Amino acid sequence: MTSGRPRIAIYFASHDGHTRKIVDCLAGHLGGRDVGVTLIDLMAGMSPAIDPEADLILVAAAIRYGYHLSAARRFLARLQAEVPAGRIAVLSVNLTARKPGRQTAEGNIYLRKWLMRAGLRPALSAAVAGKLDYPAYRWFDRMMIQAIMHISGGPTDASTIIEYTDWAQVEALAGQLAALAMTSP
Ligand SMILES: Cc1cc2nc3c(=O)[nH]c(=O)nc-3n(C[C@H](O)[C@H](O)[C@H](O)COP(=O)(O)O)c2cc1C
Repeated sequence: MTSGRPRIAIYFASHDGHTRKIVDCLAGHLGGRDVGVTLIDLMAGMSPAIDPEADLILVAAAIRYGYHLSAARRFLARLQAEVPAGRIAVLSVNLTARKPGRQTAEGNIYLRKWLMRAGLRPALSAAVAGKLDYPAYRWFDRMMIQAIMHISGGPTDASTIIEYTDWAQVEALAGQLAALAMTSP
């Protein structure tokens, strides 16, 4: 920690808005713990500057068709070149994380693969369950997600809207992130 209260910069990539909702919730909990938070939308177009003052940098991204959104993958690659792994945290938002044991890099194949491909051992990594919203999907996406859900034992009724996110997990993550920012190398 540099001086004063710890600071966390959260760079996020959200396609349909749910990852944004999760990082907003994280930011609220971190604010309550007297951690300064900056939120940066990686989908906003420009390639954003890396916050040199942050004690910890969190990269949060949703998954579509097996891959985290490319804006987040590109940003993480840039980040690794500039910031030590001990000051980086990674959060994956996907539907696989709705299942028990799939909230860690060991248990969540998407998160594990992302970190493996990046060759990164971050200070913290976690997967959080996202939102299923069939009525909001285009025809093709709805068919594809129904097929994925059929295989993985999830709901296939086209009217289903379920927020699988475990908000207590999000609050607990805020606690872990705050602790890391306070002891940042
Ligand atoms: C087109 C599409 C493809 C998706 N592909 C996957 C996937 O491969 N694996 C998975 O676990 N979740 C998948 N999801 C679920 C999303 O990761 C989840 O809905 C998440 O909450 C989306 O976050 P966002 O609203 O920030 O974009 C997919 C969702 C959509 C709409």
